Amino acid sequence: MKSLVLICMLLGVFGSLETKNKLIECEVCREAFKYIQKWTLNPDIWSFPIDVAVEICIKFNGYTEPVCRGAIQENVLIVTESLARRYFDPDFACSAIELCDSPKYVRENFTEWQNNVLASKPSAPAPTPSNQGTFKFGHMSDLHIDAFYQEGANSNCGLPLCCREWNGPGTSGSWGDYNCDIPVKTLETAISQMSNQDLDFVIITGDLPPHDVWNQSQSYNLQYQSIVANLFEKYFPTTPVYYMFGNHGPFPVNALDPTNSSWFLNPVTEIWGSWLDAQAIATLKSKWAYSMVHPGTNLKLIALNTQACNNGNFFLFVNVTDPLGQIEWLENELSQAEKSGQVVYFYAHIPIASGDCLYAWAAHVNTLIDRYSNIIAGQFYGHTHNDEWHINRGIKTNEPLSIQWVAPSVTTYQGLNPSFRIYEADTVTKLVTDVHQYRLDLAAANLNPTVTPTFELAYSYLDLYGVSDLTPQTMFEYANSLASNATGAQQWWDNYYTGRNPSSSCNAACRNNLVCELTWGTSVLQGVCKNSTGSGLSNELVEALFGPWEYKVGSSII
Ligand SMILES: *[C@@H]1O[C@H](CO)[C@@H](O)[C@H](O)[C@H]1NC(C)=O
Ligand SMILES: *[C@@H]1O[C@H](CO)[C@@H](O)[C@H](O)[C@H]1NC(C)=O
Ligand SMILES: *[C@@H]1O[C@H](CO)[C@@H](O)[C@H](O)[C@H]1NC(C)=O
Ligand SMILES: *[C@@H]1O[C@H](CO)[C@@H](O)[C@H](O)[C@H]1NC(C)=O
Ligand SMILES: *[C@@H]1O[C@H](CO)[C@@H](O)[C@H](O)[C@H]1NC(C)=O
Ligand SMILES: *[C@@H]1O[C@H](CO)[C@@H](O)[C@H](O)[C@H]1NC(C)=O
Repeated sequence: MKSLVLICMLLGVFGSLETKNKLIECEVCREAFKYIQKWTLNPDIWSFPIDVAVEICIKFNGYTEPVCRGAIQENVLIVTESLARRYFDPDFACSAIELCDSPKYVRENFTEWQNNVLASKPSAPAPTPSNQGTFKFGHMSDLHIDAFYQEGANSNCGLPLCCREWNGPGTSGSWGDYNCDIPVKTLETAISQMSNQDLDFVIITGDLPPHDVWNQSQSYNLQYQSIVANLFEKYFPTTPVYYMFGNHGPFPVNALDPTNSSWFLNPVTEIWGSWLDAQAIATLKSKWAYSMVHPGTNLKLIALNTQACNNGNFFLFVNVTDPLGQIEWLENELSQAEKSGQVVYFYAHIPIASGDCLYAWAAHVNTLIDRYSNIIAGQFYGHTHNDEWHINRGIKTNEPLSIQWVAPSVTTYQGLNPSFRIYEADTVTKLVTDVHQYRLDLAAANLNPTVTPTFELAYSYLDLYGVSDLTPQTMFEYANSLASNATGAQQWWDNYYTGRNPSSSCNAACRNNLVCELTWGTSVLQGVCKNSTGSGLSNELVEALFGPWEYKVGSSII
């Protein structure tokens, strides 16, 4: 109310002074938006819209009231607050409607940035395997264990996640159920069997809690960080385990505020930090990302954090421009690595090829991959729950440069066989020389409830693809061959679904799309290749709400 009075006073006192009109309009505008912003930041005004949204959710999704209310209530205030902080910010709004001249909001000139980055690209040839021996490392992603998993429970209970005691009796198996997340003992079996291999290190690309996202809390989600870390400590007491969390780490799912994330980062760093040095721990807390030289080698591991590009992280509405300066940090890390003669692995949760990663962020990383392809020997991701890979290409040359290896999930959710993988890599160049994909035949395992099942080697890329190596060029040729190889494409597709037959087979149209997805490194480039005009209405809408990268220049004090 005070603001309204102030606006009227300003209008009354200064309204007639012609010369100062613009300044006055600007002041009035700012006062008005201060008021509007404050009003929209009041949670009480959202209770009625939330009730309406809950009703719609119940009606159209068929979920119960607690599920709809839980999911909506958790997110609405994040969305409305973040949008209000961005779009009703007095400086921003009054600049947008051109009532204030300062500060200005200047769009990043991406082309210019990209040209600058690529200008220093050395003409070094792409690394090739040295054939001087290999080492092995493990990769697990999307573990999603459920501490409440119950054998013999209802697995089709009408909720997004079932197989709990309170869902009533049913047919869920001893080792898991294709409709649910996995019991802890299935993960323990996977970790224990992975530890029988001679591994130099293990990477974990996040997502530990179950999918009961409507009924979680900060402490509930953090418990899963400890449960999983303890299991790795038990089976890998002396092998480095390098961890990066995913979009299911924080509460609510996807939501991590760049300006207020210590509630999550402090415990996560505490729980997973035993293999990190002091510098890595500090960077993880301040940038959500870190780099670590694997001891005794020239291999620099860079753990990126795709919460900075997750289009479900609505906190980024406030400012989507290089959240926490991670891109700037990454460029610096790569430049340092190049100068020091190091070789780099990236690992992160969401592949930059995924439509879930905001376009601008993905395009920046794609550019850095092009520029530093001479030292980037591998990229490792999860998130999709499927077994897949994507090739990054030269921006100006289109040549295949690097591969995003995406590991399938340890969880069965949904309809998948629990999986983990072992990479073999060149001792000298660190290039991945083979991928050994292990998985559990869950249906068979459940026939013997009391016998510990085995994660079997399902296939190795070299054997199955019949290729001579896994360099970007060879994989590019292999990917293109799938367009006219129905058998090969179907085989790829079956492995994508971890050996569980997909509902449909991969016909000619599917094969053309598959080639696009394998041979381009971002969802936008894949879309262009597929001749599709956009990535779907909801993605376009979300991208529009986040808006372009912009820098605030100048101040509001005149
Ligand atoms: C939420 O989880 C608790 C156990 O932590 C359970 O008792 C309750 O039934 C769950 N509520 C819903 C709506 O699923
Ligand atoms: C962005 O930079 C490029 C190259 O420097 C230039 O040609 C182009 O006009 C700039 N675009 C805008 C919108 O300023
Ligand atoms: C920061 O996050 C904590 C934990 O979610 C919350 O309790 C607190 O209100 C937040 N602070 C601000 C300033 O948003
Ligand atoms: C098609 O793919 C299969 C499986 O990868 C492979 O064995 C076969 O040689 C391929 N056929 C051609 C003509 O490339
Ligand atoms: C896109 O269009 C081109 C030219 O018409 C065609 O050759 C190509 O197969 C199309 N791509 C897909 C994935 O359909
Ligand atoms: C967003 O944050 C960046 C720093 O990360 C800053 O340079 C930029 O000005 C901010 N953008 C806006 C619109 O406030």
